[in-house]
Amino acid sequence: MSTHIGANMGDYADTVLLPGDPLRAKYIAENFLTNAKQVNSVRNAFGYTGEYKGHRVSVQGSGMGIPSMSIYINELVKFFGVKTIIRVGSCGGMAPDVHLRDVLLASGSTTDSAVTANTFGPGIHYAPLANFELLDTAFHEAQKMGIKPKVGDIFAADRFYNDELDMKKLADYGVIGTEMESAGLYLLGAKLHFRALSVLTVSDLIFGEEKTTAEEREKTFNDMINISLATAIA
Ligand code: HPA
Repeated sequence: MSTHIGANMGDYADTVLLPGDPLRAKYIAENFLTNAKQVNSVRNAFGYTGEYKGHRVSVQGSGMGIPSMSIYINELVKFFGVKTIIRVGSCGGMAPDVHLRDVLLASGSTTDSAVTANTFGPGIHYAPLANFELLDTAFHEAQKMGIKPKVGDIFAADRFYNDELDMKKLADYGVIGTEMESAGLYLLGAKLHFRALSVLTVSDLIFGEEKTTAEEREKTFNDMINISLATAIA
C-alpha cells in the first residue's frame, strides 16, 4: 500500500501504461488485456494488471497534469517496483504537418511547469527526454502496423487555459504538439531511473477548428494503445 495506491507489492507489472483518464485505464484493461484484475480504486484512479500476448502489463489512471501524474509515478516506481512507464494520452497538434488523429511520439518535452526549474535552480533549463530504446521500438512497431507516427518536442503546459502563451513561437521552434504531462514524466524517469515514453494522439488542433468525433477518437485511441502495448512487450 502507498498513500494513493491501495495495492500490494507484486500487484503491478514491471511495465505500466499510464492514461490520464481512469476510465481509459478501465477501457484498456477490458478491451486489450486478458485476465485483467483491478489493483487500485483509491480516488477512482483505477489501476489494473492483466496480460497482453502472454506478458504481464498494468494500466493506471494518472489524472491530468504533472502534479497529479507525479503522485502516481512516484508511488508506482518507489513502492511497486515499476521499471517502464508509457503514457498514453491526447494532445493538441501544433506543427503544420500534424493532423487530427495522428499519433505523436514525444522525443522530448519543453515545459512552462516549474518542476524542471525547481529541480535544478536558476540557470539550468533541463531538457526532459524520452527513453530512446522505447522511442525507437514504438516508432518501428507503429510502422509494422502501417501507422507513421510523427516524432518531436511536445510542450507540457502547466495550464490548459492560458491565453498568455505564445504557442506560435513554440511551433516556430519545432514543437509539434501540446499536452500537460510529458516533461514531468521524463524528468521523473531520469530521477528515478525508469524508462519513460509518451505516445499521444492528436485530439484537437491548436491553430485550427477541426475536431474529432467520438468514433474517430476511439479508433485512433486504439492505434495508440496497440503501439504502446507492442512496445511494452518488445
Ligand atoms: N492543451 C493541453 N492539453 C491537451 C490539449 C491541449 O490543447 N489537447 C489535449 N490535451
